[in-house]
Amino acid sequence: MQKNKSLVLGITGGIAAYKSAELVRLLVKANIDVQVVMTEAACQFITPVTMQALSGRPVFIGMWDSSIDNGMPHIELSREADAILIAPASAEFIAKLVHGRADDLLSTLCLARDCPLLVAPAMNKQMWGNAATQRNITQLKTDGVSILGPDSGDQACGEIGLGRMLEAEELLGAVNAHFTPKLLTGKRVLVTAGATLEMIDPVRAITNLSSGKMGYAIAQAASDMGAEVTLISGETAIEPPKNINNISTKNADAMYQAVMKNIAKQHIFISVAAVADYSPAKPSMQKIKKQESSLTLELKPNKDILAEVASLPNAPFCVGFAAESENLLEYAEVKRKAKKLPLIVANLAADAMGSDENSVTLLDKNGVHPIKRAPKIEIARSILQHVAKMV
Ligand code: CTP
Repeated sequence: MQKNKSLVLGITGGIAAYKSAELVRLLVKANIDVQVVMTEAACQFITPVTMQALSGRPVFIGMWDSSIDNGMPHIELSREADAILIAPASAEFIAKLVHGRADDLLSTLCLARDCPLLVAPAMNKQMWGNAATQRNITQLKTDGVSILGPDSGDQACGEIGLGRMLEAEELLGAVNAHFTPKLLTGKRVLVTAGATLEMIDPVRAITNLSSGKMGYAIAQAASDMGAEVTLISGETAIEPPKNINNISTKNADAMYQAVMKNIAKQHIFISVAAVADYSPAKPSMQKIKKQESSLTLELKPNKDILAEVASLPNAPFCVGFAAESENLLEYAEVKRKAKKLPLIVANLAADAMGSDENSVTLLDKNGVHPIKRAPKIEIARSILQHVAKMV
């Protein structure tokens, strides 16, 4: 089994330290081993007890902790870490990093590290905008430090502006991206996601239960692996991943047009969207009124986007999804062959639709490759590792 990644989370003095509690919870849930190190100032904002309970490990604060065998926690902790994340990073701590100061445990272990350093600044907008801070940030970037954020918005001091620490979910995303091997660097990937919406009249439509979560997870994971991702979404109720070229569409025809417009330069096409196979033949411009008699709706077939892309002369590497209610592997393999796909991802509709987790089976010419139940982002990474090998 793969070894968990290990992260030192450094917390410095700032009101955003309350978000670090949630961050620890998310990191632990994502199977990342978290060792919390706090400055004295951080303890004014959140207690080490909270951090210890959430991380399941003792929290280190002082330089002279005798619980570490060799009495050198700064060396020991940085040696064990795959990365150090400082969140929140105060203006003072950032200045210290720039100058290589080492007057407390956290700054000392940053100086003694031989692993990557990620810094999530959090401060008042005036402090962030100050020429000294901006100079310091430029210097840290030159030194190879990754700066995460800050974001713009309401600040604890009552002002509005740049300086808010990124939310815990966003920091988890950045840590995951950092730890993901860049297997798709130089590849352009087009992903479709979500449900299509076929209008019957101005207020009624045919749609399905696809949430878009699996497609968004694929887009996020591909981006984390270094790919240049274009995401074409149908209807979803969730936010698309950040830093991805996101094109919004509604019905199957609009999605088809958007895919065809963007397909030429793609290396990989992953068709996760639940595209309606039919749409109303004559959608009404006016709301259809209730009648005594029954109502028949005439449907016309939509284009099969995936099949069309797979049959292009210079087709990209095409991956399909098959959501079935029965005979999963048999139906998925029939679809893979009919649409001439090198790879199809089979999942049970009842398992997948709307859920944050999924279990899937990959089918290619070499046979079946089951992937056991996990959060969709982890399933997405496993699918893309398989794609990267095949491409
Ligand atoms: N797909 C597509 N365009 C369509 C229908 C489906 O691109 N008009 C894609 C889906 O994104 C998915 C794959 O084709 O990757 C399989 O879709 P599915 O609807 O399960 O297959 P169908 O061929 O429509 O078969 P059926 O509905 O009979 O199960």
